[in-house]
Amino acid sequence: MKKIKVGIAGLGRLGKVHANNIAFKIPNAELTAACSIVPAELEYAQKELGVTDVYTDFREMLAKADIDAVAIVTTSSEHCWQIEAALDAGKHVFSDKPLGVNLEECKQAEAAVERHPDKIFFLGFMRRYDSSYAYAKQKIQEGAIGTPYMVKATGIDPEALVEGSIKFAATSGGIFIDMAVHDIDLMRWFLDDEPTEVYAIGSTFKHPEFKAVGDDETAVATYKFKNGGIGVIHVGRTAPHGYHVETEIVGTEGSIRISPVPEKNLAMLYNSNGVVTECVEGFPQRFAEAYLLEMQEFINCVCEGRKPGVTVYDGTKSTAIAFGTTEAWKSGKVVAL
Ligand SMILES: NC(=O)c1ccc[n+]([C@@H]2O[C@H](COP(=O)([O-])OP(=O)(O)OC[C@H]3O[C@@H](n4cnc5c(N)ncnc54)[C@H](O)[C@@H]3O)[C@@H](O)[C@H]2O)c1
Repeated sequence: MKKIKVGIAGLGRLGKVHANNIAFKIPNAELTAACSIVPAELEYAQKELGVTDVYTDFREMLAKADIDAVAIVTTSSEHCWQIEAALDAGKHVFSDKPLGVNLEECKQAEAAVERHPDKIFFLGFMRRYDSSYAYAKQKIQEGAIGTPYMVKATGIDPEALVEGSIKFAATSGGIFIDMAVHDIDLMRWFLDDEPTEVYAIGSTFKHPEFKAVGDDETAVATYKFKNGGIGVIHVGRTAPHGYHVETEIVGTEGSIRISPVPEKNLAMLYNSNGVVTECVEGFPQRFAEAYLLEMQEFINCVCEGRKPGVTVYDGTKSTAIAFGTTEAWKSGKVVAL
């Protein structure tokens, strides 16, 4: 079997997840190079992943490493130039979300993808590959809930990790840029339509540190879609019970709810606290399967010369909608998208 040789850029929280999947869990892929600006992470690549070809400079990895493809899991502001450089160097590209941190650079990435139609570009909106979300999409396509007209999405980070959210709040771009881009992508995907306007509000009751840097700890956005459909996104950072990601799609003939109880597994504890289902703790645990399936799909697309379902344009649109939502939240006005 031909193995696709991959170089990974970024070995932080998520980079390690992708690197382990490529190195050990995807039969038709092999991790042959790694790049990070953090020396300890390159040591990790050598010791834990067996990757000896390591770099601190991304362009050097492109020039020297024996790779067919790159997986970009660096800080978001690095994604677009690295996508462009990798495609121009003749590599297939997987980039984690978001596509970019402003629209100009997203457009530049689009142009690079268009310049290289023979190369695969894959954007890591991994929730589309989560088995429950993929099943929901299939059911909608089969007509199980009639015409879908509303998506209600909730994404609340665990209170246990709030210190990290507070630390990055000042530079995160605000709660919608930071947290809502997956929900924005899912809303467009499930309704198969684009939003035309948004209204958004936020509040801070528990951690004034968010307000102090112009952010909020909780926020809600309401979207009107072209065909009259509705989207509601609720994002937050203070779930006391764990990592709460829940999505409901409502249609003319029924609805689908994905993880209304964000359970860790199927075990239930019967003790002095009552009957308890523990909550999933964070994104690596909740979406472990989705991260593996999306990377497997990227590698399969490369092997088969097949374009993935999610495109670079989905990345630009979701980024533009996240910026429009942020404008609505800051201005208190309805914003046209
Ligand atoms: N899809 C998801 O659910 C999901 C979840 C978490 C993070 N992400 C995305 O993944 C990316 C990484 O997030 P993280 O939480 O792992 O961040 P992190 O801060 O833990 O890691 C960032 C990594 O990028 C590397 N890096 C930064 N600039 C670099 C450069 N110029 N060249 C090479 N390496 C460079 C750092 O060395 C580090 O390894 C972000 O874009 C984030 O939005 C996606």
